[in-house]
Amino acid sequence: MARLTLLTYPDPRLKQVAEPVSQFDAQLQLLVADLEETMRASPGGVGIAATQVGHLQRVVIVDVSSKPKISHHGRLILINPEILDWEGFEIGREGCMSVPDYTGNVVRATHLQLVAQDEQGKEHKYTMEGYEARAVQHELDHLDGILFIDRLVSRRRDLFQRKSYKKTNSS
Ligand code: NI
Repeated sequence: MARLTLLTYPDPRLKQVAEPVSQFDAQLQLLVADLEETMRASPGGVGIAATQVGHLQRVVIVDVSSKPKISHHGRLILINPEILDWEGFEIGREGCMSVPDYTGNVVRATHLQLVAQDEQGKEHKYTMEGYEARAVQHELDHLDGILFIDRLVSRRRDLFQRKSYKKTNSS
C-alpha cells in the first residue's frame, strides 16, 4: 500500500468527470487500499474519492464512524455509486482534503437511498441519513468534478478560513 498525493484546488483534474469502473481486478483492490491509507493519514479524514488522487474512476470510500452519536454503516467502499432517492434539506459545515485552507456551509439532502458496487462488483443498496449521507454526497460530487466551494450559496457568508486543520472533518 502507498499513501497517494492529494490534488488540491485549483488543480484542473479535480473538475473532471470520473469514468465508471468495469474491471473488478487486482488493480482496483490496490487503488482502494491506497485510497484508504491516504484518507486515514489525513487528520479528520472521513471520506475520499479517487478523483482526489488523480484517478478518474468512480471509486469512493466513506467512514464516519469516528464521529460520536450518529448512525452510520462503518467503512463503506462505494464503486459506481448512484443516488436512487433522497429527502430533506440541511445546512452543514464541510471540509475537504482538496481544499485544505477552508470550510464551508453546504445544503445537502438529509436522507439518501444509494446503490453501489463493492470491490468484488457485488451490488448493495444503502439507506442513510445525516452526517453519513452528507459525506457520501460530498464524495459523489468529487466524481462529477464538483467541490463543496462550488455549492456555496454565498462565498461571503458561507466560506470560512481554517484556523486549525484538525477542527473540522474532511472528505
Ligand atoms: Ni472532498
